[in-house]
Amino acid sequence: MSQRDKQISECLTTADLWELMMQRVPPIVSEYFRGGADEETTLRGNVRAFQQSMTTAYGALSFSSLDISTEVVGHSFDVPWYIAPVGSLRALYPMGDAIASQVAGEFGTVMTLSTLSGTPMESVAEASEGDCWFQLYLCGGRETALRGIERAKKSGFTALVLTIDTGVSGLRALHAKMKPMQVTGPFRGLGLGEMLKLAFRKLMLAPQMLPRLSWVMDHFRDGGLMQFVNILDENGQPMPYADIGVQLAASAVTWDDLKWIKEAWGDDKPLIVKGVHCAYDARKAEEMGASGVIWSNHGGRQQDRVPPTLHIVSQEMPLMGDTQLDFMMDGGVRNGTDVLIALSYGIKAVGIGRVTAAGIGAGGHVGLTRAFEIMKSDLDRAMRIVGVQSVTEIHDQGADIRRESQLHGDGHLPAIVF
Ligand SMILES: Cc1cc2nc3c(=O)[nH]c(=O)nc-3n(C[C@H](O)[C@H](O)[C@H](O)COP(=O)(O)O)c2cc1C
Repeated sequence: MSQRDKQISECLTTADLWELMMQRVPPIVSEYFRGGADEETTLRGNVRAFQQSMTTAYGALSFSSLDISTEVVGHSFDVPWYIAPVGSLRALYPMGDAIASQVAGEFGTVMTLSTLSGTPMESVAEASEGDCWFQLYLCGGRETALRGIERAKKSGFTALVLTIDTGVSGLRALHAKMKPMQVTGPFRGLGLGEMLKLAFRKLMLAPQMLPRLSWVMDHFRDGGLMQFVNILDENGQPMPYADIGVQLAASAVTWDDLKWIKEAWGDDKPLIVKGVHCAYDARKAEEMGASGVIWSNHGGRQQDRVPPTLHIVSQEMPLMGDTQLDFMMDGGVRNGTDVLIALSYGIKAVGIGRVTAAGIGAGGHVGLTRAFEIMKSDLDRAMRIVGVQSVTEIHDQGADIRRESQLHGDGHLPAIVF
């Protein structure tokens, strides 16, 4: 067993894995995964909302087994979470997206592949023994998106997740200040002055790269700077790694787009709308033919000061009344108790974004497997102590599982590691 694998095996929390990821991956890359919009109020709020939630515990119970399986938009999951779409996972680890889908399949759940990913969707679908979902951005415009949808159908993706909260990209200031786009470019085609400037910028990265040579070697072993291979132009050429903010602003989705997207995807497989903040949009999504909705503030990366997703869930779910939608949520889920609390609001499954980045970044397959094991044993413990035996029971007991906190201030709350 390598030293790294040993460290991973000793991780007891997803925060331990996050710290290993930060040791292995240079800040110019890891900051992309960590950061949130503006002052990061919502990013912290997502985590705090879970930390502030309390549960009850029914005693003198002993269960021989638990049933943590769930069903979402016609998919059976063995665990009540799935991998949320996270762009550029391949920057963390060679073939990162394929590894994520492999681990998701091994745990009986799905990985959602981001449009802004660097691993061909065919390899990602093939890596999983189960199903995969594809998350759609309209980068490159309608024709490009239609090509992506066709390719996803052909590769066997079983649900389409349409993200609606990225009309423009949020300002993730700390990462922007690192000027990643300016240092990652090639020397090719530059004049002498520009070439020297670029060489200097690259040289300035040495202090963060030298202690992280294993990441540097993995990066070059995997072909260096990734391209967006799941966004192909009319000549079949992948979109080069470019400013994502510019791409998103040029490709904002509107409710009208849902019509042609739904038509292209077909009625036989579910369409899920992600980035929903209010019952109004959830109803609209249902009217437009969605079978599922993901309450999400994009992990605090878009509009800062929108409420934590857990608060959106607690406020908006009761307003949904009569609906056929299946509900998911993401944002701030870091452990099994968080999963239990989210499910208690009637959520069918939660998405994990940065926990996935923590696992993949700490050590690819071994790292993400450990993240899933930690989440699973957390949830197992929490369910046994709280006294619920299945996801159905969590749904049925709902508010009875939760307790109002009478603690004031935040002195009792743990530090936010990520
Ligand atoms: C680094 C990073 C990249 C992301 N990329 C995408 C993306 O390409 N498409 C998308 O719909 N959501 C994207 N998201 C949002 C996640 O799907 C999810 O909403 C969020 O990570 C949940 O919060 P959590 O990180 O606290 O789990 C991204 C999130 C992160 C952290």
